[in-house]
Amino acid sequence: MLDLFESFCNCDCSVVKGFLLAAFAVGVFKITTLVLSLGTLLVQAYVLPAVSFAKYGGGKGAWAVITGASDGIGKEYALQLAERGFNIVLVSRTQAKLELVAAEIEGKYKRQTRVVAFDAAEDAPENYAVLAKALEGLPVTILVNNVGQSHAIPVPFLDTSEEEMMRIVTLNNIVTMKITRVVAPVIVANVGKATKLRGLILTMGSFAGLVPSPLLCVYSGSKAFLQNWSTSLAGELKPDGVDVELVISYLVTSAMSKIRRASFTIPNPHRFVASTLRNVGRRVGAQERYATVTPYPAHALMHWGIENSAGVYSKIVNKINFVMHTTIRARALKKAARAAAADTAKKQS
Ligand SMILES: NC(=O)c1ccc[n+]([C@@H]2O[C@H](COP(=O)([O-])OP(=O)(O)OC[C@H]3O[C@@H](n4cnc5c(N)ncnc54)[C@H](OP(=O)(O)O)[C@@H]3O)[C@@H](O)[C@H]2O)c1
Repeated sequence: MLDLFESFCNCDCSVVKGFLLAAFAVGVFKITTLVLSLGTLLVQAYVLPAVSFAKYGGGKGAWAVITGASDGIGKEYALQLAERGFNIVLVSRTQAKLELVAAEIEGKYKRQTRVVAFDAAEDAPENYAVLAKALEGLPVTILVNNVGQSHAIPVPFLDTSEEEMMRIVTLNNIVTMKITRVVAPVIVANVGKATKLRGLILTMGSFAGLVPSPLLCVYSGSKAFLQNWSTSLAGELKPDGVDVELVISYLVTSAMSKIRRASFTIPNPHRFVASTLRNVGRRVGAQERYATVTPYPAHALMHWGIENSAGVYSKIVNKINFVMHTTIRARALKKAARAAAADTAKKQS
């Protein structure tokens, strides 16, 4: 092999020399691009100061609307945006849980709140009317499309119930779009030259949308939909002064992930949202994607690593995901069987 390379180099043929030079230049270009994108990721994740929310109206009476705000990641968005000076409209399913978060915001951060409770899985027109009414007269500048659901456990597509399919797509896609149709015009009306403020629409994506995920087909597809929808909207609303971004996340401890213990790669919602708000407008792990951020440092390195090695659509990544979700499914089914046996024993005793 080395001999062959040497004979190529020593050869007088200008075509071969030209080919070698071009290959060398492409190699240098590729390596330089990789080093630059990894360097940018590291600087954004660890060095740059947190983004200021003054441009979105933080501390100036502006309001933020957050869906799925009663728990997990959404509750953290509500608390941390209140901390940055926003009044908060909390939208979710359970009134009592929303009122607790509202009381915490009013007590701790002295911000105003409004609460809107409805079951978003129903996609009922009156829900959007109630939301529109709650926003009347409010200078809203931020929307966080956080509400979303996944499969109860990993499940083959052919065994997925119609109810689960419809619930995931309704909640993650239909309702997210319809809520945006209600809130975005209010944001557009409140930002721009007249107020000297910018608007912001964040939508929660997922690694399941980044990487096709066997046994989570519907969830994976619904989150992939959000990537193109959100990034297209980013182009449309830029001239109106609204920043639109998809937020990509790997696992976070929450009721949905069913993971309780945080680790280096799995932050709790507080740390995840702190990273997100710190990095709004930057790409961090999503270096090659416009209007997209993978904000949490460990997730960013994972995203960058997959994208720049096998690739998100590769056979090997698909296979790894398939094996991982098959194992999780087997464990979940065993756990459910144990719980059912314990329940039967309890009823018999
Ligand atoms: N956790 C992760 O590992 C992870 C990873 C990647 C992406 N994400 C995305 O992050 C977002 C938040 O996830 P999370 O883990 O924070 O979830 P979570 O802890 O389960 O909280 C979900 C929130 O959505 C609300 N909600 C659920 N179903 C609803 C419905 N039918 N109608 C109205 N509200 C409803 C819940 O309200 P109630 O309080 O009434 O239940 C709760 O406030 C989702 O879009 C998810 O896909 C999460």
